[in-house]
Amino acid sequence: MTKIHFDQQVAARYDETSADKYRPEVLGPAVDFLAELAGKGAALEFGVGTGRVALPLSERGVRVSGIDISEPMLEQLRRKPGAEKIAATAGDFATTRVDGRFRLAYLVFNTITNLTTQDEQVACFQNAAAHLEPGGCFVIEVYVPQLRRVPPGERVRVFDAQPTHLGFEEYTDFVRQIHYSHHYWVSEGELRTFSAPFRYVWPAELDLMARLAGLTLRERWAGWNREPFTEDSDAHVSVWEKSAR
Ligand SMILES: C[S@@+](CC[C@H](N)C(=O)[O-])C[C@H]1O[C@@H](n2cnc3c(N)ncnc32)[C@H](O)[C@@H]1O
Repeated sequence: MTKIHFDQQVAARYDETSADKYRPEVLGPAVDFLAELAGKGAALEFGVGTGRVALPLSERGVRVSGIDISEPMLEQLRRKPGAEKIAATAGDFATTRVDGRFRLAYLVFNTITNLTTQDEQVACFQNAAAHLEPGGCFVIEVYVPQLRRVPPGERVRVFDAQPTHLGFEEYTDFVRQIHYSHHYWVSEGELRTFSAPFRYVWPAELDLMARLAGLTLRERWAGWNREPFTEDSDAHVSVWEKSAR
């Protein structure tokens, strides 16, 4: 059974600890990008969480549905103004089906890597494709694996070292592509921690998963502002399309 890392404690602090991702210059372009792709159609968010993206997208007039495995995260969403317009379902986005046909399915903030096996990630693409109408798109925002930054022979890479936050990746399985992300926050003399496993995945492997699900790569950018994607990009926003026929 999938372990729920976004439990009560994590959910209660999620918006605060993700404050960077709420900055208008970060969230605005993401919502613009997704609203443009949804057009007059409906959108489905996999891992909708507390509604960081779903709520502003819904405010733009897009009908938004969401799936999330964490009841505490959905509970945070339900408390917010505008949540009544989001059709939220509790379940695993690799397998859960919801009613409706969607112009857009999307999975942001690295959440594809929460699925820690290749089989689950493949199933996720198949589930996205099954919800899309012909010509509809599946969008993923995810980091590019940072193995080039792990020194030879080592398994740990620090990605954030500040007085109030230490974050590092611990590579535990180079074959199954698993690393743990460890976070330590200090605020008001209190220490909080979060550790969870992730399956890092290469853009080319995602393209193959898309192809298995009948989707074709349409666009790949380094970010929501459509920055060019290059071999040095550390993240990508990819759009796969379901054939219009
Ligand atoms: C990093 S948060 C992102 C939340 C939201 N999309 C955002 O951008 O703020 C990841 C979310 O995905 C959910 N999640 C992780 N694995 C899942 C799965 N297999 N099925 C459904 N939801 C999942 C978590 O519960 C959490 O709410």
